[in-house]
Amino acid sequence: MFEKVTKVLAITAVSTMLVVSTAIAAPITIKFAHVVAENTPKGQAANKFRDLVAERLGGKVVVEVFPSSQLFGDDAVLEAMLLGDVQLAAPSLSKFERYTKSLQLFDLPFLFKDMAAAEKFQQSEAGQKLLNSMESKGLIGLGYIHNGLKQISASKPLHVPADANGLKFRIQTSDVLAAQFEALGAVPLKKPFSEVFTLLQTKAIDGQENTWSNIYSQKFFEVQPYITESNHGLIDYLVVTSAEFWNGMPEDIRTEVKKALDDAIAFGNKVAEEKDMSDKQRIIDSKRSEIITLTPEERAQWVEVMKPVWKQFEEEIGKDLIDAAYASN
Ligand code: LMR
Repeated sequence: MFEKVTKVLAITAVSTMLVVSTAIAAPITIKFAHVVAENTPKGQAANKFRDLVAERLGGKVVVEVFPSSQLFGDDAVLEAMLLGDVQLAAPSLSKFERYTKSLQLFDLPFLFKDMAAAEKFQQSEAGQKLLNSMESKGLIGLGYIHNGLKQISASKPLHVPADANGLKFRIQTSDVLAAQFEALGAVPLKKPFSEVFTLLQTKAIDGQENTWSNIYSQKFFEVQPYITESNHGLIDYLVVTSAEFWNGMPEDIRTEVKKALDDAIAFGNKVAEEKDMSDKQRIIDSKRSEIITLTPEERAQWVEVMKPVWKQFEEEIGKDLIDAAYASN
């Protein structure tokens, strides 16, 4: 009898050890999906995050990065996140309007005069509060990644707003950006990032707005003979996760993951600063696209035509928020 009990206990102990060791062995997987190439600020930040997590939390957490819309485009990624199919993404701030109206702030034309102003606002109390603007929808913002200011590329030279009249422009899924192009008398079309090159190449659209690094890495400059250096708006990203996933992680691991993410964001922001200059230069060197520099008078015309969009969205976004962001200049 005694022997039998000992045997049963021994078997139980062994199987418990097996269960425990299996539990320890299974790491938490974080799928990080994004739409840009790897050699972009966001692509580099995502890869850095993967590497830092492997270094610091090897065995406990694994990050898998899916660039270039391989797993999800920005149109589907947030829904997929709420279903638990992806844990991290960093869509541009222009792509959240189905979840919150506050982030539309970042699409207002001529809001930030440079990236230092954008950074200053994002790190301010008001900017940090916006990270939580989708909590009721089950999404948590973990930080901002920079890309840069937008330029307008087109099939014809755009010096003044009237030059854009009647042209078709691809935009991100944002009503503010639609209003901005409508103010020019142009036709805005909301299309996924992954389709833009083909739309330009086949001349289904006449132009688009984007940062130097996106225009370069997506090869838009090869199919757009003119780029107007307008610096009229911002493309930055919100790193986002689902509350269910984030809060479900053990606290000590979550703290380390967040530290790795903060370090990766800082790295990505340095890349953004560097690429903004170097990718512009690469486009100039390619001689595929002419860069149009605006005179102060021409620039004033763009501001005059586009800025009334602020009033259109003031109620949805909140005047205090707009004032706070503008004050960072
Ligand atoms: C775009 O759709 O043009 C951008 O948001 C893509 C990106 O992630 O930079």
